[in-house]
Amino acid sequence: MKIVAMVGSMSKESNNKKVVKFMQKRYKDKLDIEILSIDKLPMYNQDIELNPPELVVDLREKIKSSDGILFATPEYNHSIPAVLKNAIDWFSRVEPVLIGKPSMVIGATMGNLGTVRAQVHLRQILNSGLVNTLNLPANEVFISTIHEKLDEKGNLIHEPTIEYLDQVINNFIKWIEKVK
Ligand SMILES: Cc1cc2nc3c(=O)[nH]c(=O)nc-3n(C[C@H](O)[C@H](O)[C@H](O)COP(=O)(O)O)c2cc1C
Repeated sequence: MKIVAMVGSMSKESNNKKVVKFMQKRYKDKLDIEILSIDKLPMYNQDIELNPPELVVDLREKIKSSDGILFATPEYNHSIPAVLKNAIDWFSRVEPVLIGKPSMVIGATMGNLGTVRAQVHLRQILNSGLVNTLNLPANEVFISTIHEKLDEKGNLIHEPTIEYLDQVINNFIKWIEKVK
């Protein structure tokens, strides 16, 4: 199955990116996960939406041809980072390519709440009319104190988190098969 991932961080050292890269390796026999370069998108502007940058067109095509979407979000000031909201805004306009796409959400933060507040906002956004993904119910992945759960190479090493992710990924695959 082809999965496109949107990671809400521009940082080269992003913990969320490290988790997604770990998932790329761990689930490679089941899923082909590609991280979309949403960090290169310009800020959404309605004045250019009918003649959008090439990257918007390219990423729309990748979303259209995928089987599902993985959202990985840090928490910035109790919400999702602008880079992720910006990408969702682009993909909701003119050609709303997210509608009906199976999706799932994970999030990692150094704090204790593991992006709970950001994910509440994200799920609300995913329910809006021109976004409207078919988001995997329940299966909440809140990874707290992420800096203590990665080794020096960026691999997730916290067994309970890994086991839980395994379950959620299996549920996501079943969800994709059910709703497609
Ligand atoms: C601008 C900013 C705001 C943040 N706000 C929160 C927050 O509200 N709650 C939280 O748990 N962590 C917050 N953090 C910490 C980030 O969630 C944490 O650094 C996380 O690892 C960032 O994700 P990344 O490593 O994938 O870039 C904030 C960090 C930044 C830079």
